[in-house]
Amino acid sequence: MNISRIDTPLATTAADAVVVGLFSDVALAGAAADADCATGGLLTKLIERKEITGKRFELTTLLAPPGIAAEQLLVVGLGDRAAYDSGTAYRAAAAASRQLAGKARERVAFFFGDGTAAINEAAVAGAIVGSQGQDLFKAEKKRTPPANLLWAGEANTLRQGQILGESVNLTRRLVNEPPHDMYPESFAEQAEKVAKECGIQIEIWDEPRLQRERCGSLLAVARGSYRPPRLVILRYNGGAKDAPLLAWVGKGVTFDSGGLSLKPPDGMLTMKCDMAGAATVLGAMQAVAKLKLPVNIVGLMGLVENMTGPAAYKLGDVLTARNGRTIEVHNTDAEGRLVLADVLCVTVETGAAKIIDLATLTGACVVALGLDVAGLMTNDQSWCDTVSAAARAAGEPVWQLPMFAEYDEQIKGEVADIKNVGEGRWGGAITAAKFLEQFVDKKPWTHIDIAGPAYNEKPKPWTDGGGSGALVRTLVEVARGWKG
Ligand code: BES
Ligand code: MN
Ligand code: ZN
Repeated sequence: MNISRIDTPLATTAADAVVVGLFSDVALAGAAADADCATGGLLTKLIERKEITGKRFELTTLLAPPGIAAEQLLVVGLGDRAAYDSGTAYRAAAAASRQLAGKARERVAFFFGDGTAAINEAAVAGAIVGSQGQDLFKAEKKRTPPANLLWAGEANTLRQGQILGESVNLTRRLVNEPPHDMYPESFAEQAEKVAKECGIQIEIWDEPRLQRERCGSLLAVARGSYRPPRLVILRYNGGAKDAPLLAWVGKGVTFDSGGLSLKPPDGMLTMKCDMAGAATVLGAMQAVAKLKLPVNIVGLMGLVENMTGPAAYKLGDVLTARNGRTIEVHNTDAEGRLVLADVLCVTVETGAAKIIDLATLTGACVVALGLDVAGLMTNDQSWCDTVSAAARAAGEPVWQLPMFAEYDEQIKGEVADIKNVGEGRWGGAITAAKFLEQFVDKKPWTHIDIAGPAYNEKPKPWTDGGGSGALVRTLVEVARGWKG
C-alpha cells in the first residue's frame, strides 16, 4: 500500500472512493459540507430523511454521486462531536477502510480532518489497520488494502499516523502467524529484522546463555518444547547518554498448550496469541525508532513455547529464578509469570528507571474486565496514572485493579518462597501481578494484562478478527511523554 498526501479538492479528486466523517449532530462542516455542496445537497436530503444519522461507525455508501469525480462517497458516522477522540477516530477510519478493502481498489481518498492533529493521526493509523485482514493464507483474500491510500491533511500528521498504523499491523501480523512458523527463534529473527531496519541495537540470549545467566524459571517453561527459548533485548537510544531509561517487557509464549496442566481444546485454539505482549513491545519499538523520539528505551521479550514434551516441567517442581527466589510449580499453565520473572530481573539490571510489562497473562483478567479492556496493576500509583493517561490519549481502554497487601498471602509457598498460582481462582489477575511484583526489586512498575484485548475471536466493525495490536499506540504515547 502506497500512502500519500493529496491537496486536490474533494469534488475533483479522482479515486475509487472518497471518505468523509459526519457527527451525530448532523451539522455539515468541513469535508462533509464540501461533499454536500458538490453533490447539490445530497447529504442534506439523506439527513432530512434520516437515511444518514452520523451514529458512531455508521457506514453509508453513495455510488456514482453527482458532481464528484470519485466513483463512490462513503460517509462514516463519528458520533457525538464533543466526545470525538483518538479512539473513535481510529475506529471510524478503520471501519470505513475495512469496508472498502472488501475489494481490490486503486485509489481510496480520506477527507477526515475533523479532529486535532493527535486525533487525525489516530484516524490515519486506523485507516491503515482497518484495510488489513488476518487471512494471511487465504487464496481469495477477504481484505485487500488499496494500492494507494490518499489523505487530505497535514504532512506530519500523515507521516506519524502511517508509522503508528504500520507498527500496529506489524504486531497484528506477528500474532496472526501460525505457531508452527512463529516460535522463539523465528520471533527473535523477526526482531532482528526490525532492529536492523530501524537502527535499534539488539542482543539475543540463546539457551546456553540463559543457563549461564541463571534464568531457571524461564528455562523450566521452555523444557517441554523442542524449540529452544530466546531472550531478546532491544535498545533504542534516541535520547542523551545519561537520560533516564524506560523499559518495556513482553510475554512471548509463542504457543501455550498449558504444559502438563493441559488446556482443553477450546482454550488452546487461540493460544498462538500468547506472544502478543512481546509483539506489542516490538511494534512499539519500531514506532518510536521510526518517529525518532528523543528518548532511551529498552525492550525485552521472553520467548518460549509451553509444551508437554518428555522434559516438560512438572507440578511440584521447584524453580530458582535469576534473583534467587524459589518457586513451587502448582500449575504449568501459569507459565507467563514464570517467564516474566527472569525477564523482569534482567530488566532491573539494565538500570531502567521505570518498567511496563505487557502480557496475555490471565483469563481472570478477561472475567474481570471483559474482552476489550486491559488490566493495569502497579506498585507505583503515579507511574500507573501516567500509563493510564497515555492510554486515554491513544483512545485505548484500560482499567486499574487493586494490589492490596492481602493478596500477597495467597502466593506464599509451602516448600519454596512462593508458588505460581493463588489460592483458588478468585482474583487471579491480581495474584499473577503479585507474583510478578516479586521480581521488580521495588522499581516503579506497571503491569498490563492484555489477555482480553490482544486478540479478537470475532470481527468488529473496525477490524477483522485475530491480533488487534492493542496497546502499541499507548506505549508510543508513554514514550512521547517520557521524562523519567
Ligand atoms: N495465556 C494464558 C492466559 C490467557 C487466557 C490469555 C485467555 C488469553 C486468553 C495464561 O498462560 C494462562 O493459562 N493462565 C491461567 C492461569 C491459571 C492457571 C492460574 C488462566 O488464566 O487460566
Ligand atoms: Mn498458560
Ligand atoms: Zn500463557
